[in-house]
This record gives sequence, structure tokens and C-alpha cells, in this order.
Amino acid sequence: MFVPLCQALVVASAIIKMATSIASGSAHLQFRETRCWRQTSFSPLVSQRCSNKFPWSDGLSNNLKIKKSHHHHQIPETQRLFQTVVTSCMKNESTKYFDFAVIGSGVAGLRYALEVAKHGSVAVITKAEPHESNTNYAQGGVSAVLCPSDSVESHMQDTIVAGAYLCDEETVRVVCTEGPERIRELIAMGASFDHGEDGNLHLAREGGHSHHRIVHAADMTGREIERALLKAIENDPNISVFKHHFAIDLLTSQDGLDMICHGVDTINTETQKVVRFISKVTLLASGGAGHIYPSTTNPPVATGDGIAMAHRAQAVISNMEFVQFHPTALADEGLPIPPTKSRDNSFLITEAVRGDGGILYNLDMERFMPMYDERAELAPRDVVARSIDDQLKKRNDKYVLLDISHRSRDQILSHFPNIAAECLKYGLDITRHPIPVVPAAHYMCGGVKAGLQGETNVLGLYVAGEVACTGLHGANRLASNSLLEALVFAQRAVNPSIQHMKESYTDHQTVSQWWDPPVVPMQLGSTILTKILKRTKQVRNELQSIMWAYVGIVRSTTWLKTAERRIGELELEWEAYLFQQGWEPTMVGLEACEMRNLFCCAKLVVSSALTRHESRGLHYTIDFPHVDEESRLPTIIFPCSMNTTWSSRQLHKQQIC
Ligand SMILES: Cc1cc2nc3c(=O)[nH]c(=O)nc-3n(C[C@H](O)[C@H](O)[C@H](O)COP(=O)(O)OP(=O)(O)OC[C@H]3O[C@@H](n4cnc5c(N)ncnc54)[C@H](O)[C@@H]3O)c2cc1C
Ligand SMILES: *[C@@H]1O[C@H](CO)[C@@H](O)[C@H](O)[C@H]1NC(C)=O
Ligand SMILES: *[C@@H]1O[C@H](CO)[C@@H](O)[C@H](O)[C@H]1NC(C)=O
Ligand SMILES: *[C@@H]1O[C@H](CO)[C@@H](O)[C@H](O)[C@H]1NC(C)=O
Repeated sequence: MFVPLCQALVVASAIIKMATSIASGSAHLQFRETRCWRQTSFSPLVSQRCSNKFPWSDGLSNNLKIKKSHHHHQIPETQRLFQTVVTSCMKNESTKYFDFAVIGSGVAGLRYALEVAKHGSVAVITKAEPHESNTNYAQGGVSAVLCPSDSVESHMQDTIVAGAYLCDEETVRVVCTEGPERIRELIAMGASFDHGEDGNLHLAREGGHSHHRIVHAADMTGREIERALLKAIENDPNISVFKHHFAIDLLTSQDGLDMICHGVDTINTETQKVVRFISKVTLLASGGAGHIYPSTTNPPVATGDGIAMAHRAQAVISNMEFVQFHPTALADEGLPIPPTKSRDNSFLITEAVRGDGGILYNLDMERFMPMYDERAELAPRDVVARSIDDQLKKRNDKYVLLDISHRSRDQILSHFPNIAAECLKYGLDITRHPIPVVPAAHYMCGGVKAGLQGETNVLGLYVAGEVACTGLHGANRLASNSLLEALVFAQRAVNPSIQHMKESYTDHQTVSQWWDPPVVPMQLGSTILTKILKRTKQVRNELQSIMWAYVGIVRSTTWLKTAERRIGELELEWEAYLFQQGWEPTMVGLEACEMRNLFCCAKLVVSSALTRHESRGLHYTIDFPHVDEESRLPTIIFPCSMNTTWSSRQLHKQQIC
């Protein structure tokens, strides 16, 4: 059994290498739109962006190399000019200076912060309470090769198969190899995971994994990791946490063909004050974008802000069509006593329930998974989600049932205490009755294109975690590989970041004055602001419905084109409404900024999905129902390939004051 599997892996990797070279040689294949940024009169830093020839686009799908540019040492003439123009606008602005700015306090951001703090000052910027993150909700665990009978090759192969052969083999190798060490470090930092009777770590098994390799803390693994890391952060004198600071846009300038990141503008959502962070290095660790869909397992903070900010900052974005829908989120309407208030995020029923023997039935108690896949309930998530989607559509049902009640009560309660308690709140005893479930948006495989050190094409900007597209997941994420990826890349970005910090020469005091600050729209008055909020909420719901209806689990070219058109219209209409009400392009507010980002991410998903003329992994379209070997390339979105709207431009580069 083992030998042929290894051969399959070698074949696959050979093909992946080939695909990689095709991708870099014909990058324009993936282009959709070639409109330029609107050229604003004051902004010499944003020069012609539409040349397809970026110095870093060569070998893009391999390793993005950080280019060491000697130009850093001079402030170009144009910037100096610009600076004098805007200095006069800088009133009352609060600016903070750090060596490292970390956007996001999930596993990726915190893990990185703890490491770089040994070498300088760190700001951890986070939009809500520090623990509020996808990390905190992770149930299943972290995958790593820790069992003696397991191997890195086996973990790699499972990852590549789940990723439908679109993974970057080098990335996969790095992550699977470095995983075990990252787990040991987490334990050394105080995270406590479940142990078996033999005293070793208890390793669970999940769908798509051919070995037991999931390290977990009951069904609240993420919460335990988040707790341990936050505790360590609290005790670190070099780290300052800025909670309720919403990152609006990255501060970037252009030097020749290089984009350089100098920090980020934020708004303190409690005091409504704008705070500018100037940093030598910025790590974007802002997590996912689940809220582009109406039903998602992600907490409310996951509005794709990081992907949108990076896109506006001219970073390359990749693989956005691969949105993972978790097959089994709790279907509230199927509960004996449905919740009175609809939730911000759907409650997840972890894959481990299926791993532990959970069986899926339709409402007639027919077990349906074996009809779709020989692996039945243990088939990869995309297969399970599509099968459920098919059952729901065929039968016109609202949910299906996941039953674990054949297992012993003790076992269920010890493995899934959190799920059991949540269901019991609504009158359901999962040790006796099946759980109503539906698919919900869960994980964004695509994101900001990163090299093997978490570097991006923007100098000084690194990415780690769900916001990044490192090539690990390919067309579909293997269960429990995302916490692992976040840990590994947060660590890999450390050394190059420290290097960059040490070499960084910029007069930070001066840099802080290059752009006019965002404005809090107090002057509009509460009546108008309330109207704007209400309209924005409606627009958000409308965008989410469009995404669910036309860009969901099963897609078609016609639906995607409909989505593209309707999203474009909705965005223009929303922006026009704001400006009619007296809103100005430099104005900021939490809801408006999130809306900008949701639009941006939704458009990135739609345009990526339209580019892929095959069905692979999570992207399934009825017009191209099969895998197409020629299309086995990552989707790349270059800057300025999207249409020009207010939402698609950086806030501080909108207009002169
Ligand atoms: C319900 C659920 C269960 C999961 N189970 C598992 C599992 O078992 N195993 C696994 O490997 N993965 C799992 N995942 C996925 C995994 O949890 C995430 O991919 C991972 O935690 C991402 O970590 P992160 O650090 O990249 O981002 P997050 O943990 O999402 O952190 C992002 C941070 O950025 C902040 N932020 C976002 N935007 C801004 C902004 N504009 N300004 C300031 N701050 C901002 C957020 O507030 C947050 O602090 C699960 C996800 C969910 C939702
Ligand atoms: C700065 O802000 C403070 C309080 O927020 C205010 O009292 C003061 O007038 C402001 N100054 C300027 C120059 O705007
Ligand atoms: C804090 O950062 C400084 C460098 O700025 C470093 O010398 C010091 O060791 C760091 N302190 C800790 C506790 O990591
Ligand atoms: C792009 O924007 C212009 C105006 O800003 C609009 O007329 C056009 O329809 C848009 N195109 C798309 C594809 O959204």
C-alpha cells in the first residue's frame, strides 16, 4: 500500500513543478481587468500601476524573494514634495512608532509578536477584544506528525490530495516538517493539550488524514491556544496591545517599482479617534473573510479586512475562489427550542464528530453519504458539503442530521462537552438525538500571496495565518492544517522581519506626515450617521445574499456573472448614497470600512471564480464540471485588476485636504 502511494506523490510533485513554471511564464493568463487606479492629482507616489511587468512577478508562484533595495536610503524627490503638501493637514493626529506592527491577535499574530518582541517594540493591533478571532473558535485541533507510525510524507500526501493537487509542494513540505516543533513550543509556552492513558499526547483523527495526528484540547483547542498565548503576551514588556483598534489601510509608498509598507492607520472604535502606527515591519495576521456570506462559522471580526487592505496596497492576491464551506454547522431552525435571536456566527459541529463515528442522515433517516463517496462521512469537507447541498436541493429540506448518539454517553460528553452543552441550551441532548446541521462558510484558502518566509511583494509587509495564501492548502484545506500553517508561517516570518527591521532606514517622524489622516465623520451629525449605518447594514445583507445565491457551494458562469454585475451595481449605489449624505472619501467608521472590505473580498472571490474554467477542490462549477490538467495553476490577482471605486482605493490616498 505504502509504495504506490509514494509514487503518486512523486508524480504529483513533478506535475506541480511544471504547473509552477507555467504560472510564472504566463501570468497574464490570470488577468481579468486592466483598469488603472484613478490617478489622483496629489499623489506622485501612486504612479502608473498598470504595467503588467512587475519586477517581482517573475517566479511569483515559487518563492517571493525579498528584494533588498538600496533606494530605501533616499527619500525620492516626489515624496518630499508630497510631504510638504500634506503636513499642513496634520492636526491633532495621534501617531505611534514601533519596530513591529502586528495586525490581528489570533494564533498567527500572537505567536509572531512573542518572537519578534525579543528584538524590539511591538504593537499588537486588534479590532475587538484580543481573544476575539477565528483561533478562539477552533474546535478540532492542530495536525502534526507526532505518532511514531506517521510520517511527514504521509501528512504531505494527505494535504496534497485534499488540496486537489494545487498545493505548492515546497510549502507543504516545510509546514509538515516544522509542525511538530511548533507544537512542542506551544506546550512550552503553556498550552495544555489532551493526553491519552499512556501519558502521551492524545492524537485524534479527522477526515482526509490517514493517521491519528490531531493535537487537541477537548473540542476547544483554539481557546486553549489563544489563552496561553495571550497570557504570555501580557507578561512581555516589549509588547503593547491596542484592542478595539480597527486597521483601516496599510500606509504604503512607492519607490521605483517597489511598494514599501510603513505601518497602518487605525480607528479606535471606543473613542472614535484615529491612531496612526508607523512601523519598520508590519505583519498582517487578520484572519479570514467568512462574513462575505450570510451564514458562517467565523466570528464577526472576520470581514476580510486584511485581504482588502493588502489588495489596495498593491499586494498580490491568490486563489480566492477556494472558499471552504464547513459541511456541518448547527442548523438553529432544527433545534427543539430555536434561539430567539439569530447568531452572529453559526455554531460549528466539528469534523471530529464524524471522525468519532458520527453518521449523516437526511430527514427520512436515510444515510446518504455512501451514495456520493466511498469514504462516506470521512470524505473531505468539500465532498461532504456538496453532498449535503445536493440532498437539501433535491429534497427541498432546510437541514440534514448528524448522529453520534450510538456512542457511549461518557465518550460523547468527554470528547464534545462544548457541543453537548450548546445543544442542550436549545433542548437537544446529543447523547440521545441527532444534531440538525447545514453547511456554512468556514475558511478562506486564498489570500495575500506569500513566499516561504511569509513575505509579500510589498517590502516590509509580511503575512501569516488565514489572511495569507502560502500554497499549503491549494484548492482545499485539509482539516486542522490551518492552525498549523499559522504557527509555522508566524515563525518563518520572524527572521526576515528582524533583518528587515535592522536594515530599515526611514525617518519615521517624517514618514508619518506623508499622508493626510482619515477623518471621523462627527460633523455629519447623528441623524445622517444613523441613516448611513442603516443603509450600510442593508447593503451588507444584500451583498451576503448575492454571494450565497450565486457564489456558493455550486457555481455556474451565468450565476457568477450575475453576481459580478449585481455586486458592482450595489457598490456604486452604496457609495453614491454615502456621498449624497455628505460623506467624504477620507471619512472612516467601523461599519463603512468593513463594508468597503467586504465588497473588495467578494469581488476578488467572484473574479477568481470566473477565471477558473474547471472544477477543482472547493471550486465547483456546473459549466466546467471536471478537473482540467491545463488549468492546474494558482489564480493570481495583480493589483489594479479590479474596477475603480471608493472602496478599492486606500483611504489616505483619496484626495487632498
Ligand atoms: C469555528 C471554527 C473552527 C475551526 N476549527 C479549526 C480546527 O480545528 N483546526 C484548524 O487548524 N483550524 C480551524 N479553524 C480555522 C482556524 O481557526 C483559523 O484559520 C486560524 O485560527 C486563523 O488564525 P489567524 O491568526 O490567521 O486569524 P484569527 O484567529 O482569525 O485572528 C485574526 C485577528 O485579526 C483581527 N483583525 C481582523 N481584521 C482586523 C482589522 N481590520 N483591524 C485590526 N484587527 C483585525 C481579529 O480581530 C483577530 O484578532 C476553525 C475556524 C473556525 C471559525
Ligand atoms: C485636538 O483634540 C482635542 C480633544 O480631542 C480638542 O480639544 C482640540 O481642540 C483639538 N485640536 C485641534 C488643533 O484640532
Ligand atoms: C525588548 O527589546 C529590546 C530591544 O529593543 C531587547 O534588547 C530586549 O531584550 C527585549 N526584552 C525582552 C524581554 O524581550
Ligand atoms: C467599472 O466602473 C465604471 C465606472 O466607474 C462602470 O461604468 C463600469 O460598468 C464598471 N465595470 C465593471 C465591470 O464593474
